Amino acid sequence: MSETLTKLSYQAFQQGKTYFGVVHKTLSSRLMNLIHPNLGHRGKPMTQKVLFKLQQRMNQLLETDWQDTEKGVYPESLLFDHPWSDFFRYYPMVCLELPQIWERSAQKKHQEFSPEIETDGYPSYYVQNFHNQTNGYLSDNSANLYDLQVEILFNGTADPMRRRILSPLKQGLKAFNSLPAKQIRVLDVACGTGRTLRMLRGCLPQASLYGVDLSPAYLRKANQELSEIPGELPQLLQANAEELPYLNNYFHGVTSVFLFHELPAKVRQTVIEQCFRVTKPGGVFVICDSIQISDSPEFAVNMESFPLLFHEPYYRDYTHDDLVGRLEQAGFENISTQVHFMSKYFIAHKPA
Ligand SMILES: C[S@@+](CC[C@H](N)C(=O)[O-])C[C@H]1O[C@@H](n2cnc3c(N)ncnc32)[C@H](O)[C@@H]1O
Repeated sequence: MSETLTKLSYQAFQQGKTYFGVVHKTLSSRLMNLIHPNLGHRGKPMTQKVLFKLQQRMNQLLETDWQDTEKGVYPESLLFDHPWSDFFRYYPMVCLELPQIWERSAQKKHQEFSPEIETDGYPSYYVQNFHNQTNGYLSDNSANLYDLQVEILFNGTADPMRRRILSPLKQGLKAFNSLPAKQIRVLDVACGTGRTLRMLRGCLPQASLYGVDLSPAYLRKANQELSEIPGELPQLLQANAEELPYLNNYFHGVTSVFLFHELPAKVRQTVIEQCFRVTKPGGVFVICDSIQISDSPEFAVNMESFPLLFHEPYYRDYTHDDLVGRLEQAGFENISTQVHFMSKYFIAHKPA
């Protein structure tokens, strides 16, 4: 009985987030069309058939999310980890930022930063207003709004999509079952505000967790958020994933969520090679990123519209990229892929 109630609460929680996202996007795009009539024409409209398939895939994602808790991959509490209070705390700021986002998008000002933001020392591909966000990834305000913006974008499914890395990761870590749980080390590359590390902590309470990201502001936010949950604080470092500041063969597991579509093709290869270098022989590397044309041709219209509506300069190239080939080139073997809703997963192993 209590299982049924928990499942119903989860479904209601998700439904609430979906309505929130849909209502926000409907109202804000109407307003945008009034102020910037040309911006609305950038993306192609979705057909009923595409909408129906999206709904089907979303239902499957949520069912898989629920089933993974039933299998004990992670605790049910993770399903409710994004509290509404956060939604409402930052929502007014998300709305207040919209006119600037539209203006930036209309003017195609994609490398615009406030004078107080330090942009020196970052790779040029990174100094961008990704998603037309004010100050890209380089301000505290951007870090505060990011999680809510992503949840709205995906109608409340960003966390369920992130959680799909947990089952293959745990499966891969079984290779090290003889070790005490405390000795297992897992690195999250491009950890952002720490959403994935929070999930990793829920699913691997004893493991030593590490996070690396280029943005000091996002790391500050991650540190704040992660210090509120029980368990050892993950070790966070600011660094470029092209030069991971860790020893060779150090981590039993490496994860990366929503990074690769934001990298130029050459950098994707370098980062994969770095992830290979720091993974232990026998260890596992799990990537979560956008679907690609090869696995989801029926959603080509969504993949074409996304980089036009949001500033995503490397996304189109990513959707055609052969990441399995890149993983093999780096040395990974036993590579498999999965697709859940709008995201794709690459599960790769370093030879033992
Ligand atoms: C779309 S966000 C994803 C963040 C987080 N993984 C999540 O699930 O929300 C991309 C993240 O990649 C980081 N990033 C981009 N290029 C990077 C690089 N070369 N090295 C390290 N971090 C990078 C950004 O700072 C940002 O936090």
